[in-house]
Amino acid sequence: MTLKLAHRPLEPGYRYFDRYVPSDEPRPAEGGEPAIHKDAQVHDTILGPWTRIGARTSFSEVSMDAYSYIVNDASAAYAEIGKFCSIARDARINPGNHPTWRAAQHHFSYRARSYELGSQDDLDFFEWRRSHRVVLGHDVWIGHGATVLPGVTIGTGSVVGAGAVVSKDVAPFTIVGGVPAKPIRERFPKAVQDGLLALSWWDWTHDRLAGALEDFRHLDADAFVEKHA
Ligand SMILES: CC(C)(COP(=O)(O)OP(=O)(O)OC[C@H]1O[C@@H](n2cnc3c(N)ncnc32)[C@H](O)[C@@H]1OP(=O)(O)O)[C@@H](O)C(=O)NCCC(=O)NCCS
Repeated sequence: MTLKLAHRPLEPGYRYFDRYVPSDEPRPAEGGEPAIHKDAQVHDTILGPWTRIGARTSFSEVSMDAYSYIVNDASAAYAEIGKFCSIARDARINPGNHPTWRAAQHHFSYRARSYELGSQDDLDFFEWRRSHRVVLGHDVWIGHGATVLPGVTIGTGSVVGAGAVVSKDVAPFTIVGGVPAKPIRERFPKAVQDGLLALSWWDWTHDRLAGALEDFRHLDADAFVEKHA
């Protein structure tokens, strides 16, 4: 299958992985080099600096921006993940739908080669999956075992509660939970949300983040916005 992300221009510090081949060589854990667990599977993927992928997690055609991490036993496909996202174990980002409208929804109809039923796989079907990308904004937190269904966009600063199944877009800074996921509450009043978006701290340099670390730790979001605006 064609590698779709292979030709996307890369910013400094970003790396492209056609296929990550596990090795017992120790991977650099220092500096901003993306860290991929040796038991992870990574295919046609772009990873920003300071990103991490945990054990037994699989990525296929995913772009994950700087500082975001996904821990173990999770998966993502056809997804654009912003900066500083935190994705818990067992999360599913864009599990593929099967063709419910066909006589057979089993994957032999589109993975025909694997079953020696045809000489070509059904590339149009994979294009259909590809067209239902999942998009996560910046600083999104996806809770344990949550599922984000195909085509969903989750706004910056949002939270997906543990075990949720997200079937509709989520507005920025909104906490959602349940099956199907519904809004629980907004994290901040609108003025603070607007202040954070204007500040866009997720675009700050590494040095500026380090300089503001004490404020990230000790100030509430409203005071943080007021001080750094
Ligand atoms: C969603 C979450 C962040 C809590 O948000 P919160 O706004 O503080 O929510 P509260 O605890 O005040 O609960 C508010 C309501 O939401 C419900 N709720 C909380 N978490 C929920 C979830 N995951 N799914 C469904 N409903 C949930 C509560 O039962 C409560 O319902 P009620 O109003 O009917 O009593 C938290 O419950 C959660 O799911 N955290 C994920 C933890 C995790 O997976 N960590 C992995 C490591 S990164």
